[in-house]
Amino acid sequence: MLKLGVLASGRGSNFQAIIDAIESGALKASVELLVVDNPVAHAAERAKKHGIDHLYINPKDFASKDDFFVKISEELKARGVELVVLAGFMRIVRKPLLDAFPMRVMNIHPAILPSFPGLHGQAQAVDYGVKVSGCTVHFVDEGMDTGPVIMQAVVPVLDGDDEDSLSTRILAFEHKIFPEAIRLFSEGRLKVEGRVVKIMEREGQGGTGPAEGFTSPPIGY
Ligand code: GRF
Repeated sequence: MLKLGVLASGRGSNFQAIIDAIESGALKASVELLVVDNPVAHAAERAKKHGIDHLYINPKDFASKDDFFVKISEELKARGVELVVLAGFMRIVRKPLLDAFPMRVMNIHPAILPSFPGLHGQAQAVDYGVKVSGCTVHFVDEGMDTGPVIMQAVVPVLDGDDEDSLSTRILAFEHKIFPEAIRLFSEGRLKVEGRVVKIMEREGQGGTGPAEGFTSPPIGY
């Protein structure tokens, strides 16, 4: 069973979607540790409720940003974590964590990358006037929302949308594709070639080739 470590800064609804997928049996994984960088992150309450080990690590307790990520890596490694999931973690991940978990850190971003990286992806989409936006699960590299794309869901931008209404609609799809991407990882079906992630067939259903016609199923129309 895949051992997950989750990093979060706030509400934790994506964390909850992962917990729900595990508890329903859809995702064969366990959350070994939740790390929050914010003492009032609601994600920690969710961990408590579900009996998940959690830690608040204060970045200000460290001499450098790298040292903060060294500490996080140590805590995750000590619990045998195999995949690190950023579920609303509002910091750029630094090299010590990426070196400890190469191509094993996943993030969810509320836009169709490479459009609208960084903060407030939904507001950026509304302000730009695009007709579709959505969300992206990607592996994390040292850039800001620049790593290899695993899965995306497209959500229409409607007349009259504002940041809140679009965020709500996108969030429903975040909660679908994030656990799904983790499930594909847990089944060993993500093959990274350069910056392209191929989704492979399930074993016994066509062997090792790319999954035919399977890209990102959810389209929010
Ligand atoms: C989500 O919109 C996610 O895409 C972004 O931060 C937000 C976190 O929400 N990275 P939550 O804490 O998972 O509810």
